Amino acid sequence: MSASRAGRSALKAAKGPTAAPSRTAKKPNPGAASSRHTSPPLPKRANPHLLNLNAAPGTQATHRVPPRAMTILGVSVLAMSTYCGYLYTSYRREVAQAQSMAVPEDVSDRYNHTAGTFDADVEMSEKLMRLGAKRRELVQRARGDVLEVSCGTGRNLEYYELGEKRMVDEKGRAGVRGCRSVTFVDLSPEMVAMTRTKFEKLHPGFAGTGRVEFRAQDARDVPPPPRPHAQGQGGQGGYYDTIVQTMGLCSMPDPAGALKHLGTITEPQQGRILLIEHGRSHYDWLNRVLDNLAPAHADRHGCWWNRDIGQIVQASGLEVVEEQRWHFGTTWRYVLRPRRQ
Ligand SMILES: C[S@@+](CC[C@H](N)C(=O)[O-])C[C@H]1O[C@@H](n2cnc3c(N)ncnc32)[C@H](O)[C@@H]1O
Repeated sequence: MSASRAGRSALKAAKGPTAAPSRTAKKPNPGAASSRHTSPPLPKRANPHLLNLNAAPGTQATHRVPPRAMTILGVSVLAMSTYCGYLYTSYRREVAQAQSMAVPEDVSDRYNHTAGTFDADVEMSEKLMRLGAKRRELVQRARGDVLEVSCGTGRNLEYYELGEKRMVDEKGRAGVRGCRSVTFVDLSPEMVAMTRTKFEKLHPGFAGTGRVEFRAQDARDVPPPPRPHAQGQGGQGGYYDTIVQTMGLCSMPDPAGALKHLGTITEPQQGRILLIEHGRSHYDWLNRVLDNLAPAHADRHGCWWNRDIGQIVQASGLEVVEEQRWHFGTTWRYVLRPRRQ
C-alpha cells in the first residue's frame, strides 16, 4: 500500500459509520442496519437537509386544508357572488327607474308626509355615522340669541346649552356661554310641531320662559329678531348671534340664496352660522352613484343628496371660518360668518 492510499484509508476509518456508505452496503445486512441507524429510513430522493428532525418517526409534516373548511369557503364565495350580483342588478334597475323620473327641483313639500317617520328613517344611518357626536360638538357652540332653521323634528334639541352662564375661556378671558333665546323655524308645519313637542318635554323649565319660539316659515323669509333680544345696530332690528342648520341645504330650492339671507341677520362681528350638511363626495365613483340615484331619492325623501355644498357656500358670499369633511367627503361641517366689508 502506497503512503497516499494508507492516508485515505486512515481518514475513512476516522469519519466512522456516518460517512458515505461503502459499495458493499448496497446489500443491507438487517442485523447490522438495526444496530447502526436510529433515524427513520429516508424516502427515495428525499433531501436529508429538509427532514423535520423533530417529527415523530413515521409521521409526515404536511398541511392540508380540511375538506369541511374547503366546502364552507366555497359556499361562502358562491353566496357572496350571488348577493353582489343581486345588488348590482337591483342598482341598475333603480338607476334606470330614477333616470326616467321627472322630479321638480323643489321637493321640500315631501316633509309634510314624512315628518311622522323621519326619526325612525334616519336613526340607524346617523348612529352608524356617529352623527350625534358631530351634532353635539357643533350645537354646543351656540350662544346668545340663537336661530335654528330647517329644524326638522328637533334632532339637535338635546345638545343646546340653554340659559346664559359666565365663563372663563381657555385663554383666561371672561365671557358668557349658552343661549339667551332660541327660535326654531322649518318650512313644514308638521316638522315644527314635532320640534315643539320634543322641546317642551326635554326642557320644560326653559319652555315657559318666553325665550323660545317655533315658527313654520321659509328660511329666506326669517326676519331679524326684535332689538331687545339682541345687541342690534342701526334701527332695523337686531341680529342673531348664532344660526344653526343641519342637513337643510339639500332640501331647499335656493340653498345659496337662503344662506345669503341668513348672513344678513347674523351679528356682523362675533356672529356665526354653524352648519352640518351632506352632499357630494371627494370621490368620482361615489358621486356617480349619488347622481344616478338622486331623482328617486329626492322624490321619496325630499332631499337632493348630490349637491356640492362647497359651491353653495361659496355662492352665498359668506366667509368660511372653519371647514371639515367626513364620510368620504359627503358630510360637510362649516363655521361661517358674514363677510367683513
Ligand atoms: C333633511 S331635513 C333635516 C332636519 C333636521 N335639521 C335634522 O338635522 O334632522 C330638512 C328640513 O328642511 C326643511 N326645509 C326645506 N326647505 C326649507 C326652507 N326653504 N326653509 C326652512 N326649512 C326648510 C324641511 O321641511 C325639513 O324639515
